[in-house]
Amino acid sequence: MNKSYHIVTYGCQMNVHESEKLAGILRANGYSEECPTAEEADIVVFNTCCIRENAENHAMGNIGALKKVKRARPQMLIAVGGCMTQQPDAAQRLRKKFPFVDIVFGTHNLDEFGALLARKAAQKKAVVAIPEKEGAICEEDYSYRTSYPNAWVNIMYGCNNFCSYCIVPYVRGRERSRDPESIVREVHDLLDKGYREITLLGQNVNSYSADLGGGMSFPQLLYRICEGQGKFRLRFMTSNPKDFGEELIEAIAELPQVCKLIHLPVQAGSDRILKLMNRRYTAREYLEKLEALRKRVPGCKVTTDIMVGFPTETEEDFEQTLALVRRADFASAFTFVYSRRSGTKAAEMEGQIPEEVQKERIMRLVELVNEKTREKSRAYLGKTTEILVEDFDKKRGLYLGRDEYGRMGYFQSDKDRIGEFVRLKITDASGISLYGEPDGREEHK
Ligand code: SAH
Ligand code: SF4
Ligand code: F3S
Repeated sequence: MNKSYHIVTYGCQMNVHESEKLAGILRANGYSEECPTAEEADIVVFNTCCIRENAENHAMGNIGALKKVKRARPQMLIAVGGCMTQQPDAAQRLRKKFPFVDIVFGTHNLDEFGALLARKAAQKKAVVAIPEKEGAICEEDYSYRTSYPNAWVNIMYGCNNFCSYCIVPYVRGRERSRDPESIVREVHDLLDKGYREITLLGQNVNSYSADLGGGMSFPQLLYRICEGQGKFRLRFMTSNPKDFGEELIEAIAELPQVCKLIHLPVQAGSDRILKLMNRRYTAREYLEKLEALRKRVPGCKVTTDIMVGFPTETEEDFEQTLALVRRADFASAFTFVYSRRSGTKAAEMEGQIPEEVQKERIMRLVELVNEKTREKSRAYLGKTTEILVEDFDKKRGLYLGRDEYGRMGYFQSDKDRIGEFVRLKITDASGISLYGEPDGREEHK
């Protein structure tokens, strides 16, 4: 009998890709079909996130909602893993709240999920396995990918930066870089299979290979990946501004495959707050890096992450963030309200900001960011931009894809164009998305 699985993913791209890895393991263990709903699946896996409190609440709510389903179908399995369970005592708390959960695993043993399934099959009681320490890196690509024509590729795991607000170093462990030759092989293999966009993943890609004692730097890795390859898109995230330097700017400029859209999270515009955040750059240094990038790579766009309501943030600090957003001219920005994460330095700081103040600030920031985004949209009108077609939107009856700068473009077509580069003449750019007509001069695969 075919058994089915359903995976619920929270959090970042790293988790999205790790869910593809979990799908690979499930498929190798008899769960051959993906089930569209959790209620009917033979196994449900929650791949959780704990970057902000609401990410955890979201997962907890969805796990709790399965209580009745599990009572009606006790043979179904429920597994919970990811960053949330890797926090101290989180597994015990989860088991106490949801005793019906069958398997609890962490971030450090995701590769061993197959063995945990086998353990569960052999015992009645729940399997709870949260390794304290990170293990060896698995270089093999066993993922079941569902994001064609884009493929995610981890280049490193963990983080050493300990930004004072951030839980990631605690739940993902120290920086560990993958072997450069395995990465290059994996990417080339994906390109041979027809993938057209590769996104390299790491919390701070600029420190790639530091733990290997140098060897191949991140910019050198980019050159190696592009060497001898034809047309495809290469993206990476995330770059920490403190380590964003000339060698990388040079690689971005020289390699046609590297998308001219760089994600460079700034977090705040006040030097006092940046210092408290342990970001190790000033607003001025950040802006100087943007300037150097734009000078060497004309037309290069930048996206960012910004946080409001960090402990002790004053109205003046916040206004410095607004001022930086006005100056930096971001293509778009992800905005967050600071969330107190237990175990981090900032959680212990005096001067936590009341929720009403945080809310009022995030609204003002979002308004400014949206205004900028709309402005950027209007600039597309009448222009032509090339998108990589990634899906068909059944509701709208339109194909969609992103341009090099991450803008979503929609168009109509009688034939399946997923995986192709299509040049769109933009006819409507009133919202965040673009609408256009293929100009017929597109290059084919
Ligand atoms: N490694 C990446 C960020 C990963 S987390 C980097 O250094 O840029 C993604 C974003 O979540 C961060 O850039 C930050 O803006 C936000 N974030 C992290 N911790 C947070 C917290 N405690 N509260 C609110 N936002 C947070
Ligand atoms: Fe978190 Fe900072 Fe590491 Fe990014 S660099 S994951 S924000 S600690
Ligand atoms: Fe990602 Fe959330 Fe973990 S943002 S690294 S899934 S805490």
